[in-house]
Amino acid sequence: MTRVPIAGVGMTAFGRQSERTSRDLFAEAASEAYDDAGLAPEDVDEVFYGNFMGEIAERQGHSGPLAAEAAGVTAPATRVESACASSGVAVRHGVNRIRSGEADVVLVGGAERMTNLSTAEGTAGLATAADALWEIKAGVTFPGAYSLMANRYFHEYGGTREDLAHIAIKNHDNALENDLAQFQRSIDIDDVLTAPTVCSPFGLYDCSPMSDGGSAALLVSEAVAEDRGLGPDVAIVGSGQSSDRMALQDRASMARTPAAERAAETAYGDAGIGPDDVDIAEVHDCFTAAEVFAIEALGFYEAGEGIAAARRGETTIDGELPINLSGGLKAKGHPVGATGCGQISELTKLLRGDHVNSPAVADAEMGLTHNAGGTVASCVVNVLEVMG
Ligand code: COA
Repeated sequence: MTRVPIAGVGMTAFGRQSERTSRDLFAEAASEAYDDAGLAPEDVDEVFYGNFMGEIAERQGHSGPLAAEAAGVTAPATRVESACASSGVAVRHGVNRIRSGEADVVLVGGAERMTNLSTAEGTAGLATAADALWEIKAGVTFPGAYSLMANRYFHEYGGTREDLAHIAIKNHDNALENDLAQFQRSIDIDDVLTAPTVCSPFGLYDCSPMSDGGSAALLVSEAVAEDRGLGPDVAIVGSGQSSDRMALQDRASMARTPAAERAAETAYGDAGIGPDDVDIAEVHDCFTAAEVFAIEALGFYEAGEGIAAARRGETTIDGELPINLSGGLKAKGHPVGATGCGQISELTKLLRGDHVNSPAVADAEMGLTHNAGGTVASCVVNVLEVMG
């Protein structure tokens, strides 16, 4: 396990800013990361940039060099695409590059522009993260696919819509004071249960929104951190990634996410820790039920036990294992290509003490991000620790 210090992070506000391009959003996030790190574009050895649907939303491909240009860099730049896990995977590529010794400073991150599309266009664009032959042809959308998984979970393990509602309420509460979050308003159980149905069992508040946003982080080698006196407070100490059959019907169970289990196992092994060592986590709650799949796959809960965790107050800000203190995808927003590195940005701030919710978790030393692509056909888990 080689530690990879996070020298700086940056994130735009997530939300509806449809007039802004992805390159503009990434430029803002990268500029903030430079300032945070005390580094300059000339210091960057390589760029990994996450973006999912640039071709659909902006008619823009080849966005690796475009992101580098936005960040003022001419170093090698590669676009990473893994649907909603694009920038989480970009972070992992940066970690690997530094660990291999091939680079000392890597700019990672991502951006997505979504709200310039109508909801119908955005839904069709997002659906390309499913299997074109077997799922898209049959009309599957992401709210539809995750509702199939949620209904299967209810069938196998039980649970109710009210249990899911408590996840939405928790994540909206966590975002209340987060200026970067798309929704800074609290909701109650009635709001959730009486909201328009999107796809049963999900109503409006069970879904993450369409969002625009950018995120960035500067990863450095320990040698550079020391030589340049960067003094980062947090490092990535473990990383894992895995894949699963793309189409839901090809999986052994629609109520489990084994790609996340495998990614977590690798990340825990890499960090030399287990689930019990994690103090806080940012997980991929694109739908309320997805948070349940995540906390079970990560080993925080046995199968069938995660559904009521928020309702019991165990994953709330004052609970034993606070989940999604940023507001999660549900309330912070979900500009898909920016989400994974956005989790890294928020978790870094939470751990080093400069996030609005840091005071509630002042003793937290170990955090984890879980970032999933599609219906968890891809998943990346990164483990972060306060540097001693
Ligand atoms: N949670 C809370 N409020 C939301 C919301 C959400 N997910 N989505 C939209 N809203 C609010 C808007 O802010 C707006 O409020 P206002 O009237 O006070 O301004 C209102 O609901 C209507 O917004 P609109 O954008 O017209 O909603 P919509 O009905 O077109 O779309 C969803 C709502 C849930 C269908 C859409 O956000 C969606 O498809 N989400 C899922 C995205 C997705 O699949 N991501 C990939 C996951 S793998």
